[in-house]
Amino acid sequence: MRADDRRGPVSRRIATFDDLRDAITAYRLPRVLIAALELNLFTAIGTDSWTIPDLARDVKVSERGLAILCRNLAMAGVLKKTGETYRNSRLGATALNAHHPAFRGDYLQLITSHWADWGRLLESVKSGLPLDHDEPDEPDYRRRFTWAMHHRTLETAPKIAAQINLRGARTLLDLGGGPGTYAMAFLAKNPTLRATVCDRPAALDVAKEIASTHKAGARLAYLPLDVMTEDIPGTYNVIWYSNVLHIYSPKDNQALFRHALAALNPGGRLLIQDAFLHDRNGLFPEEASLFAVSMLLFTERGNTYSAAETRAWLMDAGFERIRVLRMKRGTEDWEDGILEARSPGTNAETRARRTGSVKSSRFRSLHLRGTGR
Ligand SMILES: C[S@@+](CC[C@H](N)C(=O)[O-])C[C@H]1O[C@@H](n2cnc3c(N)ncnc32)[C@H](O)[C@@H]1O
Repeated sequence: MRADDRRGPVSRRIATFDDLRDAITAYRLPRVLIAALELNLFTAIGTDSWTIPDLARDVKVSERGLAILCRNLAMAGVLKKTGETYRNSRLGATALNAHHPAFRGDYLQLITSHWADWGRLLESVKSGLPLDHDEPDEPDYRRRFTWAMHHRTLETAPKIAAQINLRGARTLLDLGGGPGTYAMAFLAKNPTLRATVCDRPAALDVAKEIASTHKAGARLAYLPLDVMTEDIPGTYNVIWYSNVLHIYSPKDNQALFRHALAALNPGGRLLIQDAFLHDRNGLFPEEASLFAVSMLLFTERGNTYSAAETRAWLMDAGFERIRVLRMKRGTEDWEDGILEARSPGTNAETRARRTGSVKSSRFRSLHLRGTGR
């Protein structure tokens, strides 16, 4: 299979008119789900079973409208239908239910609000500019967005942390770390590690609230900083740069890489997690191409980038030994791996590597696989 033939889960390649119709009308189920969330339907259903007339009275909508909505929600699996009654699925009763501790309200709010924004896509296509409503530095917006990021990654972060070997690392900087969900996962996995989460002040307030509920939170420090305009104080063994690359332009990221290199100890590692494009034409994974549309709608200069171009920026900045770290399928934040780059080691280490006296077959095989992308 050629890399360009890879398919994402969202849609098929469109060749016929029927394919096109199916792709366009795929908006129907998302709209049904969003209507249910706008109605707080999963919260209203809670742990009970409901007939349509009772539920319609409770949520104050028409019986006809609710019957058709609920039938579709049951068809999709988020509600369960038995005879004439409906109840929540496990997902509906937990993550979608505002009365449950696992409710992911801020993230649901963020992604459902995108429905209206995507409806204005042509405005951004014409202007090349984001829609007008997001204020990245406005504290209320930042707070809600930061909780949304926590809800987005709270299950993924421990799985990623379990697969990244930080043995020997004493310090980690979570750059643009938002809620610090990843920093907390690395701390929980590595009992002697100390981490610093660096972000805007309103994001750090959320990170502090989350860390205060974890034992490992005592090993987390906070660094308010504009990472694009200010130097990074201190030096670290590892810098974790997750989901920030796509917010900025190639030039911004190249400058950031130079700052990051200056903040790494010799031989230290920069780990970049993002929606990398991996095929020669820069089209796939599908999710990475579609995510660029969000960057058009919500950022001034953001985009998604190929692993190959990011690797070139890293080398220009002075990083060495760049490779792709593969995560197990189904555990990833984004498909196809995390980029790792090293700051040049001490002279002795670099000499030893060049003369071949430091060898790691695992490193070398991963490195070779990584360079094909
Ligand atoms: C999409 S979130 C990612 C959060 C977290 N790293 C993750 O992977 O879930 C991007 C984060 O980068 C932060 N960020 C973006 N630009 C920044 C800047 N110039 N200075 C400090 N933080 C910034 C945002 O405030 C936000 O918390």
